[in-house]
Amino acid sequence: MNVMELIKTRQELDDRRSQLRKENKSVGFVPTMGALHQGHLSLVEAAGKHCDVVVVSIFVNPTQFNDPGDLERYPRDLEKDMQLLENTPCELLFAPSVKEVYPESDTRTFDFGQLDRVMEGKHRPGHFNGVAQVVSRLFEMVGPHKAFFGQKDFQQLAIIREMVRQMNFGTEIVACSIIREPDGLAMSSRNTLLTKKHRKSAPLIAKTLSESCNFVPSKSVADTKAFVLKHIEQDENLIPEYFEIVNGDTLQSVDSWEESPYIVGCIAVFAGNVRLIDNIIYKNCAK
Ligand code: PAF
Repeated sequence: MNVMELIKTRQELDDRRSQLRKENKSVGFVPTMGALHQGHLSLVEAAGKHCDVVVVSIFVNPTQFNDPGDLERYPRDLEKDMQLLENTPCELLFAPSVKEVYPESDTRTFDFGQLDRVMEGKHRPGHFNGVAQVVSRLFEMVGPHKAFFGQKDFQQLAIIREMVRQMNFGTEIVACSIIREPDGLAMSSRNTLLTKKHRKSAPLIAKTLSESCNFVPSKSVADTKAFVLKHIEQDENLIPEYFEIVNGDTLQSVDSWEESPYIVGCIAVFAGNVRLIDNIIYKNCAK
C-alpha cells in the first residue's frame, strides 16, 4: 500500500522537493480544492503512470471565488480526502493554510486577453485571475514536471496553458477526460451540494449536450445552441447561464462548423444555487 505523507508548510515541501531533485525523480502534480471524487482520482492515476512521484494539493483558494457564499458553501473534508488518496499513487499531499500560500495578499493581475473575456471569465469576474494566482504559486512551490487537469474545466485548461506560456514554467500540462456518473452527470465536488430534485434533473445537461452531437454538421450552430438551451430550460430545476459553441483553441464563438476543426460546446447551468459546468468536444461526435 502507498504510504502518503501529509505536508502543510512550504518549508517541509521545499525539503522534500530538494530530496526528490537529488534522486532525479520526475514530479507529477494534481492541484485540487479537495472534496475529492473519481474525477480527481483519475488525474492522480494518470500522474502515477507518467511520473515517478505524485504530489496532490488540497487548497480551497479564496482568490478565485467571486461569490463569498460559494466559498463558504464549498465542501471541505480533509479526513475523507486522505482516505480516498490512500490507495492511489499519491505520495505527497500538500494541504497548506491560506497564510502559507498567501503570506501577503496577491495583487498580481494577469492578462489573458480574449481567453478570459468569455464564458466563465465573463460570468465570474476575477475568477481566472485567482486561478492563475494560486496555480502559479503552487507550481513555484511544487516544481512539477507535469501537471494534470480535468477537461470539465475546459476554459481553465486554456487559461493555465496560457499562464504557463507567459511565465515560462517548464511544466507540461496534461488534459484528462471528463469522468461522469453512470447517469452522465460530470463529476464535480459541487454535486454533493445538490438537493435531491436538482440532482435528479442535473443529468439532463450531459444528455442534451450528447444529443446535440446529432446536429453536426447538418444543422447550423445557431440551431444547435437554441436546441440545447431550450431543452435544458424545459426542466424547471435547471436555469442555463450560458451555452457557447467555440473554437477550442481561442474560445471565441463560431458561427459555422467549418470555422475550426476543433469546436467545443461549453455550458454553465444553475441547479438551485449550485452552478454546474460541462462541455462537449464536437469533433468527437460519431459521424
Ligand atoms: O480546478 C480546480 O479545482 C481549481 O480551480 C484549481 C486548479 C485547483 C485551482 O484552485
